[in-house]
Amino acid sequence: MTHLEIREKFLKFFEERGHKIVPSSSFLPNDPSVLFTTAGMQQFKPYYTGEADPIKDFGSLNAVSIQKSMRTSDIDEVGDESHLTFFEMLGNFSFGNYWKKEAIQYGYDFIIKELGVPIDRIKISVFKGDEQVPADLESLEIWRSLGITDEKIIFGERGDNFWGPTGNRGPCGPTTEIYIDGLEVWNIVFNEYFCDSDYAKASSDEGRKHFLPLAKRGIDTGMGLERLTMILQKKSSVFETDLFVPIIEEIRGKNLYDLEKNTYAERIIADHLRAAIFLIADGVLPSNVTQGYVLRRLLRRAIRYVTLLKLPNDIYQRVAHVIAHDIYDMTYPELTEKQKEILEVIEKEKNKFEKTLVGARKGFKQRGKKPLSGKEAFDFYQSWGLPIEQIKELAIELEVPAEQDFEKNFENARKEHLAISAHGAEKKFGGHGLILDTGELKAGNEEELARVTRLHTATHLLHASLRKILGEEVHQAGSDITAERLRFDFTFPRKMTTEEIKKVEELVNETITQNLPVTMQEMPYEEAIKKGALAFFKLKYPPIVKVYTVGPNDAPFSRELCGGPHVTNTGVIGNFKIVKEESISAGTRRIRAIVE
Ligand code: SER
Repeated sequence: MTHLEIREKFLKFFEERGHKIVPSSSFLPNDPSVLFTTAGMQQFKPYYTGEADPIKDFGSLNAVSIQKSMRTSDIDEVGDESHLTFFEMLGNFSFGNYWKKEAIQYGYDFIIKELGVPIDRIKISVFKGDEQVPADLESLEIWRSLGITDEKIIFGERGDNFWGPTGNRGPCGPTTEIYIDGLEVWNIVFNEYFCDSDYAKASSDEGRKHFLPLAKRGIDTGMGLERLTMILQKKSSVFETDLFVPIIEEIRGKNLYDLEKNTYAERIIADHLRAAIFLIADGVLPSNVTQGYVLRRLLRRAIRYVTLLKLPNDIYQRVAHVIAHDIYDMTYPELTEKQKEILEVIEKEKNKFEKTLVGARKGFKQRGKKPLSGKEAFDFYQSWGLPIEQIKELAIELEVPAEQDFEKNFENARKEHLAISAHGAEKKFGGHGLILDTGELKAGNEEELARVTRLHTATHLLHASLRKILGEEVHQAGSDITAERLRFDFTFPRKMTTEEIKKVEELVNETITQNLPVTMQEMPYEEAIKKGALAFFKLKYPPIVKVYTVGPNDAPFSRELCGGPHVTNTGVIGNFKIVKEESISAGTRRIRAIVE
């Protein structure tokens, strides 16, 4: 069974059972609390919380999708049989409709009846229960009634059998999982709570996630396409499935393919280049912050292994071609359309990386031959964006010995860094240090902080101006600010005209030149809403909120619930410029803008 047949079977199975097929959303979620789309349910969060209506949006209470996903937390596992950074997730969803019995029956029927996996290769896990959430005995009974015997059912703790939320808040609940041949394949989540760790912090409940009843209890399932393909194609690693063989063949040369199993280096190149290509296709560029930093790390590590294997220079072009053309032309035609652009980005990063290496070699020479400490190596890794393997090689090349406990101290420095990062919201950036990361704003140093603060206030001005020019149907759907630009997503049914874009730009600039004061007040949530403050996503807010007002208090230009930070006077923002207006999904537009 090819991966195309598996995709088709899955979608058809659920379509026949009343599910609407919904396309994969972008890699870069609208949800500002997460960096990447890590699960199929992410685009559906508002249907569980009751903020959006699935019937209105796609005419069904059930959906099925194959979602492009990215998990940087697995980056160090890549190279083994089953871990990847980029992967696709097959999922079926119910929003306030069917519940455990149907969800488990569907899972059973698809695996056993549709795919023909013998029942004796299956194992199941269910939630064991803890102080806050009871054991899932209902699922246990359902599995038993389907003929799964007790010795095949294990009870999992919260770490294994409880999902969510993504980011700081969102739907969550216990899970039941299907294992085939000992490999976790399908995760079925019973979303019945809304977890809110922000609220937990604000109400001195820190350390615990606050559980609230969810507006629409429902089902969210996720099954990795690559793992399922590996099982159905009877391979011993995902890299031997038809999702990877063409890539590995291109790296190794077709005639050599069968001689030995693929190596670690080949797997890293294949995984990292594939992920990088999908990231670039979704608009990410290499940089030192957020998604761009992850892309940089993936590309540099792939480039390093390409150099190590002494692969010819056209390898990127050939790999990009087989990925776009031989593997995904039916599924993601945009990879072919954007191939030229993708290759340009890779080429540019390769050149930059080579320059960095020259600089790093020089820096290394200057520091002399004293033993390299793990901490120093970690600093190198952080500040040069050099893969750790490369730092070790430089040390060997320049005959710099490693201190005695090098590995241990490097690991400690990394852990310490992660612990500091985890203290804020930065954990999701794969360990890259940011002094500010609210999910929406990201800054790596003081200078960047000043820039993102100006862009942040400009975002409020943009939001208010859009509503004044286009009407009150405009609602914020997402925002992401880096030191270079702001990105603002909003609801609006059509492309803006050139005239409208110009008017919005002018209104923002007019407000900037009026030197309006920006003030902040803390007040109860209800009072803020009464005062006309715009709330983002209408998610649950803590009882006391911060409200930022631009202009006089009795006749504000803009008023929003917001965590800040902001400038104190619009005059310092600079000249505002919209550089792009585009569609990101039906009914949602995206503006990119800069301040000069
Ligand atoms: N959200 C769950 C997961 O990602 C099921 O889709 O595993």
